[in-house]
Amino acid sequence: MKHLLTIMDLSKEEIIDILNLADQLKYELKHGIPHPHLKGKTLGMIFQKASTRTRVSFETGMYQLGGYPLFLSSNDLQIGRGEPVQDTARVLSRYLDGIMIRTFEQKEVEDLAEYGSVPVINGLTDYSHPCQILADLMTVREFRGSFEGLKMCYIGDGNNMANSLIAGFIKVGMEVAVACPDDYQPAAKVVEYARSTGRFTMTNKPLEAAKGADVVITDVWASMGQEGEAEKRKIAFNGYQINDEVMAVANEKAMVLHCLPAHREEEITAKVFEEHAEEIFEEAENRLHAQKAVMVKLMAD
Ligand code: CP
Ligand code: NVA
Repeated sequence: MKHLLTIMDLSKEEIIDILNLADQLKYELKHGIPHPHLKGKTLGMIFQKASTRTRVSFETGMYQLGGYPLFLSSNDLQIGRGEPVQDTARVLSRYLDGIMIRTFEQKEVEDLAEYGSVPVINGLTDYSHPCQILADLMTVREFRGSFEGLKMCYIGDGNNMANSLIAGFIKVGMEVAVACPDDYQPAAKVVEYARSTGRFTMTNKPLEAAKGADVVITDVWASMGQEGEAEKRKIAFNGYQINDEVMAVANEKAMVLHCLPAHREEEITAKVFEEHAEEIFEEAENRLHAQKAVMVKLMAD
């Protein structure tokens, strides 16, 4: 593994390896055991979109690993004034040991990896959010012990989260059911891969997808960059919500995950959110541990 660009690029073995290391790093942090695997290394973190979790977990994670994180807002970089990503990649590679980027187009992340010479980590694009899915898988394994025989259901927009959740949960062997409005389906390439495993179904009926699910997941109706479509999307996504009716058809002990930020009474009711707050905030914490594992795998000597 040279970069983390999408979850699709990883094998099941690579995912499990990252999760095992993430569990170990979590244990070490909780028990005050130092783990300076990236002593003296630097990570540049380019942000073209807002962030709470990604920024803070990468920044503190790098510090805990003995390295130094640099927060690079695109407003302050020449990239924001039109300097090509190909040039930015070649320059930053001469200063840094790794680059994390949150941006719009997946191609920008791919170009950064192609033109640069240090590992690149995708911190979210419009197409995918691999770091989040590693944290989600880590959380499921933590609460359920394994992935064996489990079903994940995703309800909502066929966006970056949907694409990555489908790929990640299918890769670890789970059954996946998705409910999206017809005009908001996940990427065809991801759907095609998932269907080929025989463990994937897609519908526009949330209750059908949620039936017997062990993990129920949703995401915002309007992602970053889609703020102008928010009103139109409120109409299109009406009914694509995790609520008591959905939880009633899911497995009795079903978990609920949400990458956050959450919009209560839109994609999830406040009631279901609070009933599952323990899982949702453990998921947020696990961003830290999962990303530390990714950085160690990619950047340690
Ligand atoms: N879930 C997630 O990526 O959160 P941020 O947008 O706050 O980084
Ligand atoms: N789909 C959301 C995820 C935020 C973490 C977005 O892209 O804004």
